[in-house]
Amino acid sequence: MKIIANPFEVKEYLKTVPMRIGFVPTMGALHEGHLSLIKKAKEENDFVVVSIFVNPTQFLQGEDLDSYPKKDAADKKICELAGVDLLFMPNAEGMYGVDEVTLQAPNVRGYVLEGTSRPGHFSGVLQVVMKLLNIVQPTKAYFGKKDAQQLHLITLMVQNFYMSVEIVPVDTVRESDGLAMSSRNVYLSQEEHQEALKISKSLKMATQLVMQKNFVSSEIKNAMRNTLAPLEISYVEILNRNFELLQEVEIGNTIVLVEALVGRTRLLDNLWL
Ligand code: PAJ
Repeated sequence: MKIIANPFEVKEYLKTVPMRIGFVPTMGALHEGHLSLIKKAKEENDFVVVSIFVNPTQFLQGEDLDSYPKKDAADKKICELAGVDLLFMPNAEGMYGVDEVTLQAPNVRGYVLEGTSRPGHFSGVLQVVMKLLNIVQPTKAYFGKKDAQQLHLITLMVQNFYMSVEIVPVDTVRESDGLAMSSRNVYLSQEEHQEALKISKSLKMATQLVMQKNFVSSEIKNAMRNTLAPLEISYVEILNRNFELLQEVEIGNTIVLVEALVGRTRLLDNLWL
């Protein structure tokens, strides 16, 4: 496995790779969720690139940029074992200059839900993903459905800017107890981990109601809020795949999204119906 830090060097190196390139952008502290993206990229391409970069522009003041889990040695080993061909590990100085051209997440879909609790977050995500996609120029790039709003906005950016890459959504990987895997789960104490299970339980509750043919969003959201209590809820929302509010669940076109605070950790999860 080749490891490169310099963006220009990556571009040069990939010129010699005239094959289908699959790309998995990450912030490291890799877990089974990341691995499932890598696995899919391996299946569908001839050459797989993974990036590890804790992108400063998507963290707000006071967020966990400095304490974000860093596991470079373990991550390298995981990538090597997973058959990754090129690991791109840039640093902030290599990725950003001063007084740069930036991207602005759209107001309607970029500043609701997670965009409300983290204003500006998605502009930083789009900025770094645009850079990463331009450096690697992959055939396909893989993103988790767990970060549904991020996935939606990246898909929109690729459409809006006529980019050639295909964005591939990948299902959420969970712990055996139902908790969606996340690099931030390491922040949870044992008790908090138990509390956090209310999040996936609330989504199971939504599934049950829909299976009983209750499609009314307000009723499903109320039942979810009851399951989540006493957690502090950032949002519980039922949207279509275009991120518009739904009064009633439309099977095949619905995402149920939840974000709650467990201790000091913000956790999000969702259900695609
Ligand atoms: P990170 O949180 O490291 O996630 C990298 C990718 O893994 C994202 O596409 C995310 O949706 C996916 N992922 C995370 N947990 C998952 C799970 N349990 N199951 C399946 N996929 C999962 O998301 C980011 O980094 C950054 O915002 C990034 C896109 C790299 C831009 O900086």
